Amino acid sequence: MNLTELNRIATALVAPGKGILAADESSGTIKKRFDAIGVESTEENRRDYREMLFRSNEAMSRYISGVILYDETIWQNAKDGTPLVKLIESSGAIPGIKVDEGTQALPMCPGELVTVGLDKLAERLKKYHERGARFAKWRAVIDIGSGIPSMTAISVNAHALARYAALCQAAQIVPIVEPEVLMDGDHDIDRCYEVTSRVLNKTFQELRVQRVALEGMVLKPNMAISGKKCAKQASVEEVAEKTIWLLKACVPAVVPGIAFLSGGQSDEEATAHLNAMHKLGPLPWGLTFSYGRALQAAPQKAWSGKAENVAAGQSAFSHRARMNGLACKGEWQS
Ligand code: 13P
Repeated sequence: MNLTELNRIATALVAPGKGILAADESSGTIKKRFDAIGVESTEENRRDYREMLFRSNEAMSRYISGVILYDETIWQNAKDGTPLVKLIESSGAIPGIKVDEGTQALPMCPGELVTVGLDKLAERLKKYHERGARFAKWRAVIDIGSGIPSMTAISVNAHALARYAALCQAAQIVPIVEPEVLMDGDHDIDRCYEVTSRVLNKTFQELRVQRVALEGMVLKPNMAISGKKCAKQASVEEVAEKTIWLLKACVPAVVPGIAFLSGGQSDEEATAHLNAMHKLGPLPWGLTFSYGRALQAAPQKAWSGKAENVAAGQSAFSHRARMNGLACKGEWQS
């Protein structure tokens, strides 16, 4: 393992003013997104849509540090035959790959999930590295509800995240470690804070046990935020302040970067929260976005599957990327 190189890549992913585009929706998830805009989810449509994003020059060259791809996409070529990975590289961004294989019900723990995909992961990572991937992503899902999460769910998911991260580093790939505490419930921000704190502490404990080099990884957490169905929604300032407290308490300063998921926040909320956090600096790590929905909802709508809308889709994507780029410097204004 070349730790200097892993650290260089992790640092580049959180470069000031830049963040990550999460374009790694599984076939099931992208179908849901396409259904919402009335587009059939064919291989060609998925390719055309993602090619549109990766050819958005302004967004890609100025505000996007890396792109997380799904297995299908990493092997696809653009309409003119150029591999999509090459399009990303030529814009100056780093190609990455989602390597988990989704979730399964966790036995003995009703309503809880464990992320799978460790079998044959070493061989898959080798092939992805040959294709150009320099970082990877694995998402664990922790739900908040009555009596959950259990310590069992937190523990097995942290164990799998650390197994994945160690395998990535051995393959010279930077692991993005994503333990997502969902914001779907009716819990308040303090409950989210408490659960996320337990999840992050357990995750870093496992990373250390399994000898993962913290200098060569990026953390992708949720923010400390009210559940979507909670009657009392925390303000932007409260989310920013509590999230920064939480991360300072749980994430060692040697970790080069933290890149948030958007998790169902609206585009503007995700931008406003990141911006407010940067106003609380200086911070010990790079702090940026790794948004899926909060970067893509607008371009998906503008594009709607029509070739004549490609420029509008690219402009919507560039706008959101620029707004989040400004938020990374605390310079965004609503
Ligand atoms: P969202 O920003 O839509 O939550 O997606 C980010 C991601 O990669 C989830 O795994």
